[in-house]
Amino acid sequence: MTTPALLINGTFQPAADGATIPTLAPGTGATLAALPRGRAADVDAAVRAAERALEGPWGRSSAAERGRLLGRMADLISRDHDQLARIEAEDTGKPLAQAKADMVAVRRYFEYYAGAADKVHGSTIPYLDGYFAYTVREPHGVTAHIIPWNYPAQMFARTIGAGLAMGNACVLKPAEDACLSTLALAALAMEAGVPPGALNVVTGLGEEAGAALVAHPGVHHISFTGSPEVGGLIQRAAAANNVGCTMELGGKSPQIVFADADLDAALPILVAAIIQNAGQTCSAGARLLVERSIYGTLVEALAERFAALTLGTWDQDRAVGPLISAVQKARVQGFIDHAVADGIPVLARATLPADLPAGGFFVPPTLFGPVPAGHRLGCEEVFGPVLSVIPFTDEADAIRLANSTAYGLVAGLWTRDGARQHRLPKRLKCGQVFVNCYGAGGGIELPFGGVKRSGYGREKGFEALHTLSSLKTVLVRHD
Ligand code: NAI
Ligand code: MG
Repeated sequence: MTTPALLINGTFQPAADGATIPTLAPGTGATLAALPRGRAADVDAAVRAAERALEGPWGRSSAAERGRLLGRMADLISRDHDQLARIEAEDTGKPLAQAKADMVAVRRYFEYYAGAADKVHGSTIPYLDGYFAYTVREPHGVTAHIIPWNYPAQMFARTIGAGLAMGNACVLKPAEDACLSTLALAALAMEAGVPPGALNVVTGLGEEAGAALVAHPGVHHISFTGSPEVGGLIQRAAAANNVGCTMELGGKSPQIVFADADLDAALPILVAAIIQNAGQTCSAGARLLVERSIYGTLVEALAERFAALTLGTWDQDRAVGPLISAVQKARVQGFIDHAVADGIPVLARATLPADLPAGGFFVPPTLFGPVPAGHRLGCEEVFGPVLSVIPFTDEADAIRLANSTAYGLVAGLWTRDGARQHRLPKRLKCGQVFVNCYGAGGGIELPFGGVKRSGYGREKGFEALHTLSSLKTVLVRHD
């Protein structure tokens, strides 16, 4: 692999002061690469490059031209699919099959935004006699994008794809725990012909590069995905400069299973929704609400599946990989130990295979239930392969429980009752509802984002193009 480098003004380069930070392979704990430790000076250079890009041809580019660039990106992603998947798998530890599926989604994001770029238009507005009124969508200008380590390539694609489609000049700060795929994708953007400064990438620590970026007065909009705590810090920095934000802050999403559900169809999806990416997914189905009459049956079938789950390194390519870091492993293990100490029954736990590297950050998938209402295991975001099962008595109880956490990102609903399929989505306080399915991981076309503590603003789909642009109103007097 080439040495990881910052991308500023079209040139890959080390940090201004030459500093680096190690990034680890989560499956072994070994050092994988040295990342440039970008700091305020690098961030400033990136923002200045973005400003210059907006003053140059990028600022005058047509939507159709930008669409063509993104289309070339999509083709290059297909060309390099295997290599990108391998980079992502090694860096995040996720099973290779998952990383390959991620790259299919990454390509699809660019394809989608390539096609959408020149479909964004304003409207004309009936107004007083002698006037002509219309609106037009314009880029914010310099946009900051701070993304997490769980799906680096997909996060890059969804936020940068939409950001470039609208003609913004983007400065990306990927996560220090995993960002090699974002650098590889940035190189493809240059190959596709994205002009210098229209996309810049500054790797480094959140409290250094990230904090410097969100506080920079040259930034006009901030898109953030990560923890609510850091989201709060970023909003304070944005408030100081009076700029807007999009906040995607994770969740504790419920899957609600009624007694009339097709359990055979639901079971594999209920398991996949919490073990995909080892549970490190903002939209993980982390709370399983089960109608009491089927609690025993469902829990028994789930326990069987949990106990049979296999763990492995990215190249062993088993069902579940390691967590991203020692810190995340300790955090998730802390939730598990705390729940066990509080007497919450462990219904099943997968076995760690003997051939796992000793230094890997593995945590066995664990099924808990019944988890008492209000216990932190069932309310807080664990971000690991831990599923909390909670019984409910009737529809009203299910809705109350589903809405009972501080979060509101997505919800899954399993029922054959057609009226209920339409009644419940209205009552659930969240940003996406899946009925007899569950799959926010793909869903490129589907607007995505939360309510309550899960944040605000929408990414993905056409909606992201509105998020990453501002609306100008023009009034012409012609009498
Ligand atoms: P984090 O919120 O610290 O990291 C996300 C991004 O924010 C990274 O790029 C990081 O460098 C950046 N960042 C950190 N501090 C910053 C600051 N002061 N200013 C600007 N940027 C900053 O998340 P972390 O610590 O990696 O994970 C902790 C927990 O957060 C997880 O256990 C999980 O519950 C949640 N999380 C949620 C995610 C989601 O997809 N919604 C993704 C990652 C974490
Ligand atoms: Mg890493």
